[in-house]
Amino acid sequence: MMFPVSKIDKLMARMTLAEKLGQLTMTAAGFAVTGPVLAGDSTDSIRNGTLGSLLNLFGARHIQDMQRIAVEESRLGIPLLIGFDVIHGHRTVFPVPLAEAATFDASIWERTAREAARETAADGVAMTFAPMLDVSRDPRWGRTVEGPGEDPWLAVQVARAKVRGLQGDDLASAESVAATAKHFCAYGTSTAGRDYASVDISERTVREVHAPAFAAAVDAGVAAIMPAFTDIAGIPMTAHKALLRDCLRGELGFDGVLVSDYNAIRELIRHGVAGDIVEAAVLALKAGVDIDMMAGAYREGLPVALERGLVTIADIDECVRRVLRLKERLGLFDDPYRRGATPEQPEAIAARRRLAREVGAKSLVLLKNAGDALPIAERSARVCVLGPLADAAREMRGPWAGAGYEEPSVTVLAGLREALPNATVAHAEGVKIDGQETSRIAEAVESLRGADVVVLCLGEAADMSGEAASRAFPELPGEQRALAEAVLERARGAGIPVVVVLFCGRPLIVPWLVERADAVLVAWFPGREAGHAIADVLAGRVAPSGRTPITWPRAIGQIPLFYAQRSGGRPEKPADRFTSKYLDVANSPLFPFGFGLTYGRIAYANLQVTPASVAAEDDIEISVDVTNEGARAVEETVFLFVRDRVASVARPLLELKGATKVAVEPGATATELRFLGVDLEPVLESGEIEILVGPCADPTQLLWSPIAVRAQGRFSSESDALA
Ligand code: BGC
Repeated sequence: MMFPVSKIDKLMARMTLAEKLGQLTMTAAGFAVTGPVLAGDSTDSIRNGTLGSLLNLFGARHIQDMQRIAVEESRLGIPLLIGFDVIHGHRTVFPVPLAEAATFDASIWERTAREAARETAADGVAMTFAPMLDVSRDPRWGRTVEGPGEDPWLAVQVARAKVRGLQGDDLASAESVAATAKHFCAYGTSTAGRDYASVDISERTVREVHAPAFAAAVDAGVAAIMPAFTDIAGIPMTAHKALLRDCLRGELGFDGVLVSDYNAIRELIRHGVAGDIVEAAVLALKAGVDIDMMAGAYREGLPVALERGLVTIADIDECVRRVLRLKERLGLFDDPYRRGATPEQPEAIAARRRLAREVGAKSLVLLKNAGDALPIAERSARVCVLGPLADAAREMRGPWAGAGYEEPSVTVLAGLREALPNATVAHAEGVKIDGQETSRIAEAVESLRGADVVVLCLGEAADMSGEAASRAFPELPGEQRALAEAVLERARGAGIPVVVVLFCGRPLIVPWLVERADAVLVAWFPGREAGHAIADVLAGRVAPSGRTPITWPRAIGQIPLFYAQRSGGRPEKPADRFTSKYLDVANSPLFPFGFGLTYGRIAYANLQVTPASVAAEDDIEISVDVTNEGARAVEETVFLFVRDRVASVARPLLELKGATKVAVEPGATATELRFLGVDLEPVLESGEIEILVGPCADPTQLLWSPIAVRAQGRFSSESDALA
């Protein structure tokens, strides 16, 4: 049964101001050994109707207990909205989002989101604060790991798939949760990659790079959006009327719930735009923020603001209506106990683990494979697995593993022992991830004596990326370089190939390691099935197919480094000093966006673009021959870029417009040739556009063909501006 809107009106007519503000308030619940402990004495607030939402609570029984208080003991019986961060799987931990982005496979993004939604809902939770859609071009920023990487086109595809997967076909289903697209907007460009720091970028970059994924989420029907902690040019996003109300709600037509970030309304005081909690609450409400997460600002500040005439009851009602509407869409009024009513079946859990293994293997990126060091030869009798991440079960999950902390993860050591049952697998840790102690390096080096191959597992600890985990030196922490150099040196002397498996939540600056190792496989953090997934690729059961969704710099000083830069008037020329370059390092990246090797060689030829000239509504057909010159079946990701050399606004050197696994026909439509003109309105300008196709964003590896655009036109639909 649907709960008609008029019912919401009737309910609202009965609500006191305190009850209304309760619906706009979300507060945290923690866990004690015996069950959930609510922050403060929130149980009473639920009972007296002054608390409408909770976060950080999961477990069907606990949630149903809380729900029972709201529904059966509060005056109006309004069910609670319970939200939890499900960043990469709920109980079954999938690869971190940056790793998943590396699969360039929308069906994978959707499948993992669907499975995560099922698990989350089975745990009684109705809302999640995901997907994180912040484009990041700065490896210093720890939250890079939570997002889709550096490219807006990629972020759009991730947004669509994740919203579909989390919300399913029916938000009211016992297997669906409300998704929250976050963090609107441009959080990934915080100054110097420091978390929570100020943002100051052009409206063009907001619209072309950072907003499109949110527009796509809105198009996909996302239930909620969370404004970023940061400000843009002095206006905190939590109070950003122009971007929240005018752009998000007005231009993009978002009619869902805006939920503040954790304590963000109160932080408007520290930002320096509100003098006290009353002003903070007024700013957020006026900007259209519906739910106050953790600040208590609405409950405390809005009654005073009302009295002073700074807000009206209509302003408050508008938000309350949106929150009640979300509860209704989630089916909470019909049956607040629906989620978590049926325990999960063992087959579903087993299937999810298989999915974690499949996606884990597909998200690995092979950066180097000299002399075909990989896959590990079947005849290898002795494998030596070294390094602080070789047998580190807890680290495999990566940061923010939600409710997955109870689940054990498979280590590289365990995975390899299983995959190579006939080999002797030796192991030594050598150093701690972040330790300063080097005395065990010698023992590790000794252990590689007689080995056929060394697998050296290096990288960051899981908690070195994620929120509040920015790093000024995104390199190997601790004494890992000392370990690696000693191992590489001894192995070279003994003629033993060294395969590095690198764990990280961001590109690491390790040119020396890439140069000296025989093979480098980026594992990111693969999640629960890490060791199986990695062993599948190392032992050759699966050919690597991941592509890096973010550029790997050579030096920290190159950051931010990304493929879609503009030429500038003095592009780099090695022989000419007064061009755009460094004295001490090349401009080029260590590995470009989209880079990733496989077992074998793929050749591109015969790019065909027809017709030769197009108008606004025409389709373009693009085809290319992709030949597998290797001996085994592989999956190839084909990228489609465009470059507009002469336009009214200088365009990036390359812009991604499509990516597809080779089995699927590549294709694109003419509408994708639009860009935002001088006035930031979408325009298709006549002239020549280059179509470039190939394996990554390295221009020297791309085939290209020009296409003539005949028409010049403006597009009327406003929402297209961000599409
Ligand atoms: C993060 C959000 C998250 C929220 C609730 C904040 O610190 O920025 O991404 O959803 O906490 O856990």
